[in-house]
Amino acid sequence: MVREPSQRDRRQPAGMAAPATTARANVNLALVKYWGKRDQALNLPATGSISLTLDALPRGVGLASSAAAFAALALAASRAAGFALDPPALSALARRGSGSAARSIFGGFVEWRRGERADGRDSVAEALAPPGFWDVRVVVAVTSSAPKAVSSRAGMERAATSPFYPAWVAGAEADLAQARAAIRARDLEALGLLAEHSALKMHAVGMAARPPLLYWRGATVDCLDRVWKLRAEGTPAFATIDAGPQVKVLCTPDDARRVAEALRAVPGVERVLTCAPGGGAEVMA
Ligand code: PMV
Repeated sequence: MVREPSQRDRRQPAGMAAPATTARANVNLALVKYWGKRDQALNLPATGSISLTLDALPRGVGLASSAAAFAALALAASRAAGFALDPPALSALARRGSGSAARSIFGGFVEWRRGERADGRDSVAEALAPPGFWDVRVVVAVTSSAPKAVSSRAGMERAATSPFYPAWVAGAEADLAQARAAIRARDLEALGLLAEHSALKMHAVGMAARPPLLYWRGATVDCLDRVWKLRAEGTPAFATIDAGPQVKVLCTPDDARRVAEALRAVPGVERVLTCAPGGGAEVMA
């Protein structure tokens, strides 16, 4: 959760202190990834994406923390400026700070539409299912707390040089349709396999870029391997990786402890955190 103080209220007469507005928003984990833009300046995505908003996480572990910051900022700043924006308008505003922030306006399972318009007005997120719809867990294995060497913005620019980038874009609609269906059916295996596939495709695009881009460390690969062994042993657990070396694992609440213990035992894992579905951005005061 990230809190952002607002700007001063523009409606206040000069010289009068404006009341502060504070808003908070949660991070979100992309299950179908956003990786590539159709417009750099407006942060318009080349494809749609689907995420799960998470209940609580410390900043800076590679879980799109800028998403929480910009979602909270969009809400606090617009309120302080005297605007009561509806959720789609807030989502479009948050998107300008960081693309994935468009999704953190909403809680639970969220889809951010690619949109077709050049001005991006139709590229906003919407709620697919509220946090209480499906009680899952995300276990995060932190393999490095160091800031990432290549920002997601720079990484996406590089992705466009990859020969695999057109295939990545072409496959997005099918991935989105499968993810929506899996969420509707609360089918963990279908959603987990799809999320793993989306993440590995995203990283394959980067590996084949020029210059190449690889966010993983040795422990990242070892965590992936451990997740696959957990599955072979009968525990439904599914990995995803963002623009960093951390591994995030989708599983049931009942299996979260077992998954966390398995990941904690992987050499190179610094710490392990467990998150549940979380709510959307809200004003605190
Ligand atoms: O919103 P950005 O610019 O921080 O990019 C987020 C990119 C990924 O986290 C890798 C994928 C996603 O959809 O969140």
